[in-house]
Amino acid sequence: MKQFQIVQDKEIMAEVAANYIFSAFQKSQKFILGVATGSTPKKVYEVLAKKFRETSADLSKMFCVQLDEYLGLGLKDSRSFAAYIQKYIVKPWGLKKSQILFWDGDCQNPAGEVDRFNSILSHLGGIDCQILGLGLNGHIGFNEPGSLKESRCREVVLTQETLQNNKEDLAGGKIPTDALTMGIADILKTKNILLLVSGNHKQKSFERFLKEEPSPQFPATFLKGHADLVVMVDKSALSDSR
Ligand code: F6R
Repeated sequence: MKQFQIVQDKEIMAEVAANYIFSAFQKSQKFILGVATGSTPKKVYEVLAKKFRETSADLSKMFCVQLDEYLGLGLKDSRSFAAYIQKYIVKPWGLKKSQILFWDGDCQNPAGEVDRFNSILSHLGGIDCQILGLGLNGHIGFNEPGSLKESRCREVVLTQETLQNNKEDLAGGKIPTDALTMGIADILKTKNILLLVSGNHKQKSFERFLKEEPSPQFPATFLKGHADLVVMVDKSALSDSR
């Protein structure tokens, strides 16, 4: 782990994380950003949109990679992660669709989709910064408990726990059972990882992340072996025992 930063709350986290990404973006000639969805990074994307606007940033050098997607949910389904990226990143940042590597959740052939995604990912030459949130059961992307350190882009079966936790976001249509995700090995290959943890519902999970040895039982623990991992946590996610 390179850096461990405790911030006051989710708002400050968004500012600090957005500054961090913005400064890395400014320094690079081409910037490949791996984007998680979920509630944690929403505000980060919003603050970044403001920064890009205010500085008239040259976003032609930005390319984003979608971390994961529900199988069966395409871009047109408002519950999909692709729709989230469209809403919180593509539109507000003013990116072209060609600047995003999307998972096609609506594909008919998941194995073929994994091959397509993998081949584009390997031609990109490496993600500069991967934004991650922490799943309550330790998942990162949709690498659920049981995922190996060597795991690559693939189709996965979602746990009941994850489906239960995400049920509000999934309301209004057929509930997916599977997902497509970058693997742990793909995530660990990225140059820099920014893990964001916010909210008191994450206390137990964050405690496990800190205390447990790297293992498939709590996949986020594998991140601790990455040389350029930055962990940002807000005070509400820290348990009283610390
Ligand atoms: C989303 C993703 C998930 C979330 C995790 C935390 O693309 O890959 O691993 O990052 O479930 O979600 P939130 O931020 O909603 O608590």
